[in-house]
Amino acid sequence: MDDKQAMKQSLGQVLHIGSKAMSPRLVLAPMAGLGHIAFRHLVSEFGGFGLLFTGMCSAKAVPHENPRVSPVFCWRQEELPFLVCQIFGADPESMSRAAERIEKEGFWGVDLNFGCSVSAICKKGAGAALLKTPDQAVAIVKAVRASVSIPVCVKFRTGWDSQVDGAVELARAFEEAGADAITFHPRVAPDRRNRPPVWRHITRIKAAVSIPVFGNGNLFDEQDGNRMMGETGCDGLSIGRMAVARPWIFAQWTHGFIPDQDIYISTAFRMIELLTRHYNEVYAVKLFKKFVPYFSANFKFGHEICKKLLIAETPDEVKQRIDQVLSVYPQTVARPNQNLFL
Ligand SMILES: Cc1cc2nc3c(=O)[nH]c(=O)nc-3n(C[C@H](O)[C@H](O)[C@H](O)COP(=O)(O)O)c2cc1C
Repeated sequence: MDDKQAMKQSLGQVLHIGSKAMSPRLVLAPMAGLGHIAFRHLVSEFGGFGLLFTGMCSAKAVPHENPRVSPVFCWRQEELPFLVCQIFGADPESMSRAAERIEKEGFWGVDLNFGCSVSAICKKGAGAALLKTPDQAVAIVKAVRASVSIPVCVKFRTGWDSQVDGAVELARAFEEAGADAITFHPRVAPDRRNRPPVWRHITRIKAAVSIPVFGNGNLFDEQDGNRMMGETGCDGLSIGRMAVARPWIFAQWTHGFIPDQDIYISTAFRMIELLTRHYNEVYAVKLFKKFVPYFSANFKFGHEICKKLLIAETPDEVKQRIDQVLSVYPQTVARPNQNLFL
């Protein structure tokens, strides 16, 4: 059996998380501004994933948010059976109220964000700031656990220094507090992806708990996926930026989907179409521009392509640009250009 087949087989095995089961063990990581309803719609058309995670939603806002107007707390009914809503917040009470709404709406699960190191979030005592107040983080897990019966997942990172021991302790405490799964991103805060993640720290987390652990960070191709699973023993993989570059990545890794040369142009067109279906034109173009740098990283002259696609100001202009730039089949690269990966 070759590496690809071996990975397909291990990813295909059912994983039990709390009271539920999922497969394949490959998920879309939560990404604010990128993992919105339109992008998830696009990914769903290719398939091949086990779960999709929303970008982080404010726990304070979620209980009274109107999904018809919220750009982040919105979803398609069809995706609820495999959609996890991620929330950020600083206190057990607001996180529990948000989780209750998420359960009531029919989401597969709830994910607690203890990893975001953006200062606007950390200033509120949320995201990675909670790794400095571990008792509060554990109290949040306990309270959310007591409020809902859907799976409660926690996503966190190494912490604020490069020692992983604190994160290992915390993983154990999260499990004891009732967390059903962990996604671990082995980077220090506020390191924003400029240094490589330390995968061996995933090994430590996995060894410390008996709940499933998803490994995350710099998964670019199937060899990376194989290596992360083999080296760390993690139970599943969480893919972020690479899924934005190649929304068919899940289908490729788990279903053997083989992209043809039209995949880039058809995917870019579909992205803007779905954006305009779910959002107004101005917001659709704004979100398309967030997608562009990751998508352009697929091309040899990605910087040029990125610049050209970013000029458009309306959905029609976006479509004209896509046609101009991509119908000539620009040369692609096997591994996306990481300089474009913000
Ligand atoms: C634009 C952007 C937004 C992100 N937003 C979130 C978020 O809302 N919640 C979260 O837990 N992580 C967030 N992340 C981190 C990703 O989930 C993931 O941990 C990180 O990108 C590393 O995985 P990757 O190398 O596969 O991209 C974000 C990352 C990016 C690039």
